[in-house]
Amino acid sequence: MDDQEPELLPPHVLIFPFPAQGHVNCMLKLAELLCLAGLHVTLLLTHHTHNRLLRYANVLSSFSRYPGFRFETISDGLPSEHPRSSDQLSELFDSIKHTSKPLLKEIMLSTRHHGERRPVTCVIADGILGFAMDAAEEVGVPIIYFRTIGACAFWAFFCIPRLIEAGELPFKGNEMDEAIENVPGMEDYLRRRDLPSFCRVGDLADPVLRLVIDETQNTTRGQALILNTFEDLEGPILAHIRTRCPKLYTIGPLHLHVKTRLIQETKSSSLNSTTCLWEQDRSCLTWLDSQPLKSVIYVSFGSITPMTKDQVMEFCHGLVNSGKRFLWVIRPDSVKGWEGQIPAEVREGTKERGYIVGWAPQEEVLAHQAVGGFLTHSGWNSTLESMVVGVPMICWPYFGDQQVNSRFVSEVWKLGLDMKDTCDRVVVEKMVRDLMEKRRDESILSADQMGKMARESVREGGSSYSNLDRLIDDIRLMIMGGEK
Ligand code: UDX
Repeated sequence: MDDQEPELLPPHVLIFPFPAQGHVNCMLKLAELLCLAGLHVTLLLTHHTHNRLLRYANVLSSFSRYPGFRFETISDGLPSEHPRSSDQLSELFDSIKHTSKPLLKEIMLSTRHHGERRPVTCVIADGILGFAMDAAEEVGVPIIYFRTIGACAFWAFFCIPRLIEAGELPFKGNEMDEAIENVPGMEDYLRRRDLPSFCRVGDLADPVLRLVIDETQNTTRGQALILNTFEDLEGPILAHIRTRCPKLYTIGPLHLHVKTRLIQETKSSSLNSTTCLWEQDRSCLTWLDSQPLKSVIYVSFGSITPMTKDQVMEFCHGLVNSGKRFLWVIRPDSVKGWEGQIPAEVREGTKERGYIVGWAPQEEVLAHQAVGGFLTHSGWNSTLESMVVGVPMICWPYFGDQQVNSRFVSEVWKLGLDMKDTCDRVVVEKMVRDLMEKRRDESILSADQMGKMARESVREGGSSYSNLDRLIDDIRLMIMGGEK
């Protein structure tokens, strides 16, 4: 590489995710896809995320197979003892916003002095990091935004100003089932309760609402937008987004896309990188091995959702009363006051048909033949991971995009049931039974069909496959045209 003529060096992409599991996961997959295509990639992580990956994931060692790849780390501005827990996300966001811009610029400029690689030729930044646009502009580097949520949620976020203008926001009265009319393409199924959670605030000056509005509108300033979705899944909504962001690359489901390309490029199916920020408990796979086919409901609410003790108890009773087998992830930091110690009441009550872990190898769990359903918070990665392997879902959304995702899962894609806004043992029991017994065949059929479409999209000639090639060509053109 050192000997290469400077003009023959590949483009150099700087990727900058927001430091949360759902964001880091898919940006790492994108990094791997670009490395496989021979691009040089620098992945910019916060020290905290980098340390957790070093501790719990293999990605740092597995990426050593890409000579054009390297990590850079920066401070997120918070003291090392800060827990960065789910209820402090806005603190993390504000801190990054205030500290990262000069650091980001410095990194873009410092890479100018590395002989074996070009200076950064393109930045791919997380779509919620609007300040990256200003930094890239000041240094003169083109920027592409990657929004890690689905098209349906992105479009709902995007239409919030229109909802305000039309008087649909803030809500007048408490009727949460009232239809929403001003999100084009969603008139037939969107209700107030399906809007992103921050739309529930009564005050239009609410800082989270303002932040989402600003960051979402900002994405149109980038040269292009990347979404982790596929055309067959969200075609009609994507058509609406294209009226505002014409250069849109849909390249998902990314976790499947990476696997497919890895097999294609390396002829090996055992090179998967893990990207977890928690310690995986793989014993649950052994437990699953001894369960009957499609008999287990997998329960996990992602990396951010907090739970109260009362909510855990409602789920606990609902799951036990359903009579079904279940594998339940209770993240060590998710229940305030428990500090990772699950009370004996829950352990004892669930041990007959249940298995509890702190963090599971989710993709492997969902692909396991014993798993027949997923009780999920409808995070976008979880939704795609379930879809790809044809596992139907019960949705219990917590915040942000999840309210929209769950509506699409139940009403548009017919992949399961939406349990939003309730947390009651009787409802949990009924929904688990419905999904695993009554609606089992119907849900599995739709989920299988969707999984098939997802697999086709990342095969050679599929929409996501072709769009990734187009993205890579466009990144290459950025250097040929000297576009900076
Ligand atoms: C957040 C938002 O909540 C989500 O809605 C948004 O789309 C992305 O950012 P998170 O809540 O963590 O993410 O949910 P999700 O997007 O589903 O990502 C969680 C990831 O963690 C998934 O890739 C999942 O496979 C992984 N996971 C989760 C595990 O590997 N093990 C677990 O036990 C739980």
